[in-house]
Amino acid sequence: MRIAVVGAGRVGVPTAASLGRLGHRVAVTDVDARRIETLQAGTVPFHEPGLEELVREGQASGRLRFTDDLADALDGPEAAFLCVGTPSDPEGAADLSALQSAADAVAMIAAGPLVLAVKSTVPVGTADRLADRLGPATRVVANPEFLREGRAVEDALRPLRVIVGTEDPAARELMRHIYDPLIDDGTPYIETDPRTAEVAKHACNAFLAMKVSYVNALARVCELAGADVETVTAAMAADDRIGAAYLEAGLGFGGYCLPKDLRAFERAVAALGYDFGLLREVDRVNDEAVDAAFARIESALDGVSGKRVALLGLAFKPGTDNVTTSPALALARRLASAGATVSGFDPQAGANAKAEVPEVDLAGDPYAALERADCAVLCTEWEEFRELDPARMRDVMALPVVVDGRNALDGDALTRAGFRYMRMGAAP
Ligand code: UGA
Repeated sequence: MRIAVVGAGRVGVPTAASLGRLGHRVAVTDVDARRIETLQAGTVPFHEPGLEELVREGQASGRLRFTDDLADALDGPEAAFLCVGTPSDPEGAADLSALQSAADAVAMIAAGPLVLAVKSTVPVGTADRLADRLGPATRVVANPEFLREGRAVEDALRPLRVIVGTEDPAARELMRHIYDPLIDDGTPYIETDPRTAEVAKHACNAFLAMKVSYVNALARVCELAGADVETVTAAMAADDRIGAAYLEAGLGFGGYCLPKDLRAFERAVAALGYDFGLLREVDRVNDEAVDAAFARIESALDGVSGKRVALLGLAFKPGTDNVTTSPALALARRLASAGATVSGFDPQAGANAKAEVPEVDLAGDPYAALERADCAVLCTEWEEFRELDPARMRDVMALPVVVDGRNALDGDALTRAGFRYMRMGAAP
């Protein structure tokens, strides 16, 4: 089938490349002509493991191409996937202006009837409203994405589920045709109405956020009670009704999706008349995690003013160069405004972090970041930080203090090397 993908970002590119791999002919377009030029040269302008290879494979096969001309992308396809950003507005609701203008442009330019699949995360009711706005020639389908950054290729090629929301039988048929190879492979394929598909997407991200906040609230409890959150979560995870996923205590959740989707979901259901206060609490508890790490550092150093604190990891999680709402940057800002000198290293996100928080003294490797530091803080659990040599860390640092903001380091090895090692959710 011929498909257009509108939006060449962290959702659009993996979506397009995977549709190419499934055998479709895909044209990707974006309003950012430079981004398209970069992609045409086979370069992905952000860090996503395996994506560049998949893009180049698609280009070489002739099934994947990039164009800065929407009319060119829309020349002939039966479906267009909308993969544009839906950021937060000042009240925390989803700002749908980019989505609406992309949808308007597609509907205006498309030569014939078209299925418009909305991949972007949107509040419930958006597909219905778009359908009213665009008229009957454009059949709007809610088809939310479930791509984790750092694992987007895997999630696009082997999704945990595909959910397709439409009440139009022809659109349902066409979407099934697009996803046929995945359905044949046994991917759970859920057909429903658009509103249910939209709620399902927000429900998943809000639930993941809720798990993280639940464990971080437990971490605060354990710190006060002299208990150990790692053992508490091990006991919880042994029960497969609970499971182990998203129960890692730490600095909290960040990224482009979880924080904004949590708020957008709360706002969307408030507009419908439901007060989902639980979601507001999840947000509040998430902020406490950075406060708790800051308090740890402050008490370990007897105040942070004039001290040098080294942040290991700046991305919102490992496997990405994205620093959007990264807890590491929240901590960096907090430390800098309290008078600390903040150094930092991240294997992928250094430049993005520096652009956001210029106060961070960016280092080229972890040991350089640790040079003369009074305290090291693990903010993002990149594998390479687990392999740091405690003796070498001790040699370069001014004081042997480690705050493990992701409970991912070998505390025994650090303690043996003479460090004062503190992790989240345990008495200091
Ligand atoms: C999230 C969802 O996991 C995807 O399913 C969804 O498709 C995507 O948002 C989206 O809506 O596009 P992502 O933003 O890549 O994906 O982030 P996650 O991997 O879910 O991690 C979110 C945050 O939670 C990270 O900051 C991570 O460090 C934190 N986290 C996760 C914890 O603090 N503890 C945990 O146990 C798990």
